Amino acid sequence: MRSGHVRLLPDVRGKVNRKTMREQILELEKEALQELEAVSDLSGLDRFRIAYLAKKGRLTALLKDIASLPAEERPEAGKLANSFKRNLTERFEGARRRLLAKEEEPLSSLDITLPGREPARGHLHPITQVMQEICHIFGRMGFRVVKGPNVELDYYNFEALNIPKDHPARDMQDTFYISENVVLRTHTSPMQVRTMEEQPPPVSVIAPGKVYRRDSDITHTPMFHQVEGLLVDKGVTFGDLKGTLTSFVHQMFGLDTALRFRPSFFPFTEPSAEVDIRCVICGGIGCRTCSNTGWLEILGSGMVDPEVYRFVDYDPEVYSGFAFGMGIERVAMLKYGIDDIQLFFRNDIRFLRQF
Ligand code: DAH
Repeated sequence: MRSGHVRLLPDVRGKVNRKTMREQILELEKEALQELEAVSDLSGLDRFRIAYLAKKGRLTALLKDIASLPAEERPEAGKLANSFKRNLTERFEGARRRLLAKEEEPLSSLDITLPGREPARGHLHPITQVMQEICHIFGRMGFRVVKGPNVELDYYNFEALNIPKDHPARDMQDTFYISENVVLRTHTSPMQVRTMEEQPPPVSVIAPGKVYRRDSDITHTPMFHQVEGLLVDKGVTFGDLKGTLTSFVHQMFGLDTALRFRPSFFPFTEPSAEVDIRCVICGGIGCRTCSNTGWLEILGSGMVDPEVYRFVDYDPEVYSGFAFGMGIERVAMLKYGIDDIQLFFRNDIRFLRQF
């Protein structure tokens, strides 16, 4: 019995020891790998190296323990420890490469000597651009910019412009009525009356802004823009009107753009004229845009009718003046060769970007 016991003893002890060493190795491996996983920079990695892999590290200590095991236990423990060492060294190298790449990354991908990336910048709508250009041209000639209400009294929109209630000229403009005496202004001409009401002559103003008409097709939108012009002083003649508008056309469309004054009618000017420019599409030969006339109408104008002066207490015996009004969309369409007015309001970025 005793001898059996004695024979068994080394075996049992060996088993216990081997298990303990195996456990130790596996435990250390688990701990080391977990710790390595948590390392997030190179200095952390170096602390890990000192703790495990350096001369006084835990892996080195473990290998020394194995060296002092009984000879028959060494191979198995050695094998296990060696595979642990290989695994750990491999992962350590992997982590080192990864962290090195991470720390070098900002340096290699960011070249601070390159010019900065330009932020996307918007710009003014083409209608606003053309409106500003018109205002600049007349501004240089001494016209002052004035603005007025979009919701207008019938009085300013019609009555004081010599368009009484039953006047057939009211049919020319499909009016949006707010109430019997209040409308959305159908043109910027009411600014003539509002300006003269506010100041004695001489006046020279331009009034840009929105106007409204019940109209919608390829050349009409219910809201569009106009610029009104008015100049009143002593001795103003139709020659001044012609000179002023000729200069405008030349600045807006180019010096070689031909224009003509064609007799017309407006209740608030006498005589009246519409101004045409030589067709910008066909150059005057005749095409669809100009209905084969070779000419394109761009504005209405005339000498202020003495009837209008009556409403603002200007003396028509002393003062005379001219007025004109033009559609900004129309000017823009002719200047840029655009055949569909709706493009201005659809606001497709691919269209707008071209201006
Ligand atoms: N108000 C006119 C319209 O909308 C345009 C116009 C014509 C304005 C003659 C004027 C003018 O000042 O004198 O059709």
